[in-house]
Amino acid sequence: MRHHFPICERQVYLNACSQGALSDQVREAYGAYLRDWEERGAPWEYWVELSERARAAFADLINATPDEVAVTTSVSAGVSAVLSAFQPGKRDTFVTSDFEFPTVGQIAHAQELRGARVVHVGEQDGMLSLAGFDAAIDERTALVAVTHVCYRNGSRTELEGIVELAHAQGVPVLVDAYQAAGAVPIDVRALNVDFLATGTVKYLLGSAGLGFLYARADQIERWTPTQTGWFADEDIFAMDIDDYSPSPTARRFEAGTPPVPNIYAGLAGMGILASVGVDRVEQHVRALTAHLDHGLDELGASIVTPRDPSARGPMTAIRSTDEHALVEALAAEGIIISSRDGNVRVSPHVYNSLGDIDALLDGLREHRALLR
Ligand SMILES: Cc1ncc(COP(=O)(O)O)c(C=O)c1O
Repeated sequence: MRHHFPICERQVYLNACSQGALSDQVREAYGAYLRDWEERGAPWEYWVELSERARAAFADLINATPDEVAVTTSVSAGVSAVLSAFQPGKRDTFVTSDFEFPTVGQIAHAQELRGARVVHVGEQDGMLSLAGFDAAIDERTALVAVTHVCYRNGSRTELEGIVELAHAQGVPVLVDAYQAAGAVPIDVRALNVDFLATGTVKYLLGSAGLGFLYARADQIERWTPTQTGWFADEDIFAMDIDDYSPSPTARRFEAGTPPVPNIYAGLAGMGILASVGVDRVEQHVRALTAHLDHGLDELGASIVTPRDPSARGPMTAIRSTDEHALVEALAAEGIIISSRDGNVRVSPHVYNSLGDIDALLDGLREHRALLR
């Protein structure tokens, strides 16, 4: 795989939690988009067909059917479409967590303007605890919205337990899988989640501007989004302006014209993952992570991410005395990582090698003073 990602020749790129590396396939996909546009003018039938292919490719990746997948432009767009269906009633509360990305946090709080209440479940020892969700979910809960892997400390949420608790009270669960999808195998049937949103910027190896929202078949028609657009209509080409009749499929959570260039790129990125298999990506990343942990222990560094492989995602967070200075110092040496909240974040993917981890460990040794 590595030779498909030219950045690996120049840099030690360990930053998939911010942006996956550019592959030859994705570069070529953007070229194909420009060629098709230039040569064919307005091939919209073909472009809509590509959007359907992206829907099907993502459905395959998570064990859903294409009718359960909305093609969106971001996680924000998909989550916002679902929550826009909220109507104040007996169930007026969104339960979410302190580990959310602002996407979920801000969209939940936006519903306060329409009479909703938002309850946050806090962390316990760097993890979201089931007890916290148990205490928060009750007869007022309309939806639980929770992250799969925390973008700050890399911990993996115990989704099965949360889904069980929520469903026992008749509450659906929405998962933000942005820090997992592409590097953690996801089977929405096995997880039994009701909604799952992600995008192609990170481990799905595409670019900005494309996302997906999974909605389980039996949930779809229970939600009537008020954030909408003509691509959400039951018959897009009827060009109807006299009523609102959303699609009976997950397409009802879409909005306007699909993000065609990013769909070319997203298909190429997901194609790479399909050819390798996300389970193999996970195994590879776990091996790199075990090597990283070992080296960090030798350095006496402090790992914030839980050690148990089943309790962590692909990213490892390490304490720093000045995370920005450490990211900058390593970048000057061609080692690319990122930072949040007093930690640096190391996020390997399919294109990384043990050599990359060793190069990072050498860099961290050199800047030992910036580790806590
Ligand atoms: C967990 C998580 N959710 C959501 C987002 C942002 O999603 P979007 O910009 O597509 O709304 C990110 C991006 O960093 C993220 O890490």
